[in-house]
Amino acid sequence: MAHHHLLPSLFLLLLFASASAGTGDEAHVSAVIADKGLAFAKDVLIGEAVRSLTPLRLPGAEKSVRVPFLGGIRATVSNITLFHLDVRDDSVIRPGDSGLVVVASGVSANISMAWSYSYHSWYFGPLEISDSGTASILVQGMEVGITMEIKNYNGSLALNVSQCGCYVKNIDISLDGGSSWLYQGFINAFEDDIRAAVEKVIPENIIGSTTKLDSFLQGLPRSVSLDNVTAVNMTFVNDPQYGNSSIEFDINGLFASAVPKTSNLQKHPMLSLSCGGASNMLLLSLDEAVFNSALDVYYKADSMHWVVDKIPDQSLLNTAGWKFIIPRLYRSYPNDDMVLNISMASAPVMRITSETIGATINADMIIDVLHGTETVPVACISVVVSASGVVEASGNTVYGRLELDDFSLSLKWSKIGNFHMSLIQGVIRVFLNTACMPYLNSRLGHGFVLPVVHGFTLKDVYVVTSAKQLTLCSDIAFANNVSSLASLPVLW
Ligand SMILES: *[C@@H]1O[C@H](CO)[C@@H](O)[C@H](O)[C@H]1NC(C)=O
Ligand SMILES: *[C@@H]1O[C@H](CO)[C@@H](O)[C@H](O)[C@H]1NC(C)=O
Ligand SMILES: *[C@@H]1O[C@H](CO)[C@@H](O)[C@H](O)[C@H]1NC(C)=O
Ligand SMILES: *[C@@H]1O[C@H](CO)[C@@H](O)[C@H](O)[C@H]1NC(C)=O
Ligand SMILES: *[C@@H]1O[C@H](CO)[C@@H](O)[C@H](O)[C@H]1NC(C)=O
Ligand SMILES: *[C@@H]1O[C@H](CO)[C@@H](O)[C@H](O)[C@H]1NC(C)=O
Ligand SMILES: *[C@@H]1O[C@H](CO)[C@@H](O)[C@H](O)[C@H]1NC(C)=O
Ligand SMILES: *[C@@H]1O[C@H](CO)[C@@H](O)[C@H](O)[C@H]1NC(C)=O
Ligand SMILES: *[C@@H]1O[C@H](CO)[C@@H](O)[C@H](O)[C@H]1NC(C)=O
Repeated sequence: MAHHHLLPSLFLLLLFASASAGTGDEAHVSAVIADKGLAFAKDVLIGEAVRSLTPLRLPGAEKSVRVPFLGGIRATVSNITLFHLDVRDDSVIRPGDSGLVVVASGVSANISMAWSYSYHSWYFGPLEISDSGTASILVQGMEVGITMEIKNYNGSLALNVSQCGCYVKNIDISLDGGSSWLYQGFINAFEDDIRAAVEKVIPENIIGSTTKLDSFLQGLPRSVSLDNVTAVNMTFVNDPQYGNSSIEFDINGLFASAVPKTSNLQKHPMLSLSCGGASNMLLLSLDEAVFNSALDVYYKADSMHWVVDKIPDQSLLNTAGWKFIIPRLYRSYPNDDMVLNISMASAPVMRITSETIGATINADMIIDVLHGTETVPVACISVVVSASGVVEASGNTVYGRLELDDFSLSLKWSKIGNFHMSLIQGVIRVFLNTACMPYLNSRLGHGFVLPVVHGFTLKDVYVVTSAKQLTLCSDIAFANNVSSLASLPVLW
């Protein structure tokens, strides 16, 4: 039994993050493997199949016949080893009604074997005559086909081979050693046995490998942790959907413990997703809800706090800097340093349209005065910021960048009397532009590493936005020097 697995890379490529929560069977992340991606998957699949099938041991055979004058002749072939498979470009992959069909034709194989031949000749006396040698066998015009059904089984993908066959067109045995010429004809009688062995053993081994692939798929994690706060719900939703030349996999994709906000989202197949005319192997679409569930989780985990004690214009963090804007602040706490304690009043909300990605951030900014050893909160200003941004990708990392569009201020409470928001508008704008946005951008700029399976990398990723949806368009590269995909299941 072959050791390695057949690993249709397409499934593995799905393992991008996004998280869990949710009601019903909603898909918020869809991955579409387009025809170019299927072709790529086919090549990886066939490459892996060839690796897993060679060397392949075939059963030996023995034949005895009685020949007039000569007596009983016994011939055996043994140690039959298929050691080389040559699959030329003549292969196709095609989505079928409920599965994937992969057919490789024009395959040739090299097989080595040992032969021996013996008989008791009464004619020449009670003498055993024997001979042996090796033979090379060339199998040509072989065709191998497999139909795999991929279904959703309890939120995981289950793979079942519904058909697998191998047909050998031509077989050619050449003997080396011994009195080869003498036995050639006899050995040719083994052709049918070898043909039958190849046609039986290859499908058996392919099915064996796909069983392992099936366990691998079913063992994929239901959630992938992004950090110590949250994880993505990787539950597969629906059966894979097959297009004419593409397959779509839908994943719940929400972040754990988030409350889904868009529960009645009507989900259409994404098979017609486009990357602006370009043809890409993989199209990964993420709903707005994915991002919002993440923001919600981080908000609820209380991890959206920022205490600001350094800004480019440090004079703004001293009451003296506010002397003319809020005189009462300066009078109460002359020349005291201040810190700004910023926290989210609600989870930030992201909106995606075909033109832009927007975010609304609703924050409370508490002004703390550092008076002696005391920290005195003196006022709280509600700041609602709207920003818009772009998402870019490089390799397996996705980056974001935000720009301030607009903001509004209102005073929540104050211990230093009422003051008009219009008075501090300018100062806050400077603060937002010189401290807040750069801070957010430095965090977004670190990027988010897509958890792609070891051995695969995304190439030439670019991002397309459409209504409520962000799509990553990408090609895939496979490092086939990775020692063995069989050792793979280590995600990320
Ligand atoms: C993950 O998603 C599935 C399918 O949408 C859902 O049934 C399940 O409850 C989710 N798991 C969690 C932990 O939210
Ligand atoms: C079987 O064949 C391989 C090469 O094809 C050879 O290395 C090996 O020694 C053979 N084994 C036996 C028992 O003849
Ligand atoms: C396979 O057999 C063919 C024809 O005998 C030969 O040209 C080729 O070199 C063989 N390949 C290997 C890897 O032995
Ligand atoms: C379905 O999946 C859940 C985990 O998501 C597991 O607890 C349950 O046992 C599975 N049910 C079956 C029938 O395999
Ligand atoms: C796999 O396919 C075979 C043949 O079509 C069928 O008999 C079997 O029930 C299937 N198994 C699963 C788990 O779907
Ligand atoms: C999560 O990790 C961050 C740093 O990576 C740390 O500051 C934070 O306290 C951790 N949170 C929990 C709940 O462990
Ligand atoms: C699939 O092909 C058929 C016939 O060629 C066509 O009518 C149909 O629109 C195609 N479907 C998709 C999703 O491209
Ligand atoms: C910031 O404000 C929150 C309440 O909004 C408070 O719980 C927290 O202790 C404050 N942190 C600092 C460093 O003042
Ligand atoms: C595979 O090749 C890449 C570049 O070609 C190289 O960086 C990497 O170290 C190689 N990996 C192994 C396991 O050889």
